[in-house]
Amino acid sequence: MSNNLLVTILLSVLVYREATAATNRTFPDYFKFGIATASYQVEGAWNEDGKGENIWDHLCHTNPTFVDNGDNGDIACDSYHKYKEDVALLKDLGVDYYRFSLSWSRIIPLGLAGSPVNQAGIDYYKSLIQELGDNGIEPMVTIFHWDLPETLQEFGGFPNPELEEHFAYYARVVFENLGDSVTYWTTFNEPLQTCHQGYSTGTMAPGYKSSGLAEYKCAHTLIKAHAKAYHIYDEEFRPQQQGYVGIVADTTWFEPASDSDADQEAAERALQFNYGWYINAVVNGNYPAVMIERIDERSKQQGFETSRLPKFTEEEIEYIKGTHDYLAINAYTTVYAQAKEETDPTVVSYESDLNVDTFIDESWEQSASSWLRVVPWGLRNLLNWLSKTYNHPEIFVTENGVSDLGGLDDDRRINFYQEYLSNVLEAILDDGVNVTRYTAWSLMDNFEWARGYTEKFGMYSVNFDNPGRPRTPKASASYYAQVIASRCLVD
Ligand code: NOJ
Repeated sequence: MSNNLLVTILLSVLVYREATAATNRTFPDYFKFGIATASYQVEGAWNEDGKGENIWDHLCHTNPTFVDNGDNGDIACDSYHKYKEDVALLKDLGVDYYRFSLSWSRIIPLGLAGSPVNQAGIDYYKSLIQELGDNGIEPMVTIFHWDLPETLQEFGGFPNPELEEHFAYYARVVFENLGDSVTYWTTFNEPLQTCHQGYSTGTMAPGYKSSGLAEYKCAHTLIKAHAKAYHIYDEEFRPQQQGYVGIVADTTWFEPASDSDADQEAAERALQFNYGWYINAVVNGNYPAVMIERIDERSKQQGFETSRLPKFTEEEIEYIKGTHDYLAINAYTTVYAQAKEETDPTVVSYESDLNVDTFIDESWEQSASSWLRVVPWGLRNLLNWLSKTYNHPEIFVTENGVSDLGGLDDDRRINFYQEYLSNVLEAILDDGVNVTRYTAWSLMDNFEWARGYTEKFGMYSVNFDNPGRPRTPKASASYYAQVIASRCLVD
């Protein structure tokens, strides 16, 4: 063999090694992959076996124009009857855990503290958890994912401080009945959307429109309810059950539009008004300083006797502080944030309390959801921000995914997962961010709230025209299964 040939072979081996080292970087052994759904979006069986009415049942039935095509979750994916099939799909994917939520009104039909518990509801979730366990899949259980019992809305919903007691009762019931087989609990999913869209823009149930008061009251009650549920678990259940309790908050990533101090501050303020609103509370016991200062000041200018942002007492701050065992993020998209002239100080709204301009880059790929542009690097920046802001905690990505209008050859979804997961991997391996879980949204196409069944996020397609609701895997399902099996980002 000539020397030249030998050198060429040696060089090719080196180049190959470099290339595979770069592309085959693996997720650490401790890293877990999961996938998610939520009760109202998949279960159906809206009035079976003693389930009570919730705010989505009520809204869809009384105001059919609220949801596209007049769709509702009466049957949805029929997971109430087809949960064994769902678990078989999860098994095919090879996920470590399944993140799903409990329907409050299936378990406590009236929702009220002290009111009867529906044993059939408890039994359904026991069966689902048992089936998961039999298949080696861990349950990650969300206690509340937006489907409030209608009776509680008749009492005013979350802006009513009494909701704290009703939620505490519900949380105790589920810890008591299901806690022996659940290790990871989430009290609330995306409280920002519950309070902002539910009680301010009115774009989610209960569809209540207001400005600048109800959503702050909603958040106040919800944070206290979370803290109470955390303490109940800590004191009454953790000693035997040894699980973990957290809250899942969401935010868009706000990328500063420039290096200017004003734009950097605007982006930080937006993150604090979205994610910090809830997470600063459970980490440090109170709202972010920037929210307190701005809303107190503006309320004064507007002639309110007390701030529109309710106050926690010193005891409440101590009680709320540290009520989380993990930090969780639902993350989908990015916008640019830039400073804005101060708006008219008399305008009473969350948007003018925040006072930030946002815009997007039109070249970013548009999904089927108006609010969701595909910006993979935004997730890496967001994970770094979380790590820095909250002192390097363990972080779970509890939702990430993309919508389209249907079809089994969902190459764009595959690209989405490849690129977003590659940014998660870079955050872990290159930036030292302690991300330990990644949850895709969603297992199957389902009821996408006010968008009904038009926007599809699933790795399995569901035929909603067929009463049997058959599920069919999309290309992304086999892609995700390969990623999980190989622990690296296969092409
Ligand atoms: C967040 C919510 O938790 C989930 O219910 C929703 O379907 C997805 N994002 C997609 O919009």
